[in-house]
Amino acid sequence: MKNIYLIGFMGSGKSTVGKHLANELNKSFIDLDDYIENKHKIKIQDIFKDLGEEGFRSYEKIALKEVQNYDIVATGGGIVEKEENISVMREGRVIFLKTSFEEIEKRLKDDKNRPLWNQEREQQLELFNRREKIYASCSHKTIKTDKKSILEIVEEIKLYVMNN
Ligand code: S3P
Repeated sequence: MKNIYLIGFMGSGKSTVGKHLANELNKSFIDLDDYIENKHKIKIQDIFKDLGEEGFRSYEKIALKEVQNYDIVATGGGIVEKEENISVMREGRVIFLKTSFEEIEKRLKDDKNRPLWNQEREQQLELFNRREKIYASCSHKTIKTDKKSILEIVEEIKLYVMNN
């Protein structure tokens, strides 16, 4: 099986869906942010604090190449910020979990751990709109997630994987 990269905005459910999908398919799974935190022994928000976004992006770029032996990878929302990452992921299957901004806002209401979410609504929305276009253009498949259960989303991905 080609490996599967789950992409989408912060809070779109990449990690939760990835874990369930891996269970269902009996495949290996890694969350890229967890991998980075374990590798460098530091929390993502502290990487942003110490090294800035660019520092985090370079850790992320290297980490993405290191997890290619996993079947299913849940990426961070900003993975598409580097062209090179898109090329790496497109060697496998890239699946975009598309969640509306309103839904993301509900889910991340009290979240203070995501540096790029922790900003004014106008900036959040701008980031969301800019990223949406990239996710849509670089993915092999888009799965809308609003009002769907994890199980339904996993089933949709399974169906896609079996037929493609
Ligand atoms: C980021 C998303 C985060 C994490 C980091 C940067 C982004 O991952 O990688 O805070 O740029 O959107 P999640 O999408 O899992 O929240």
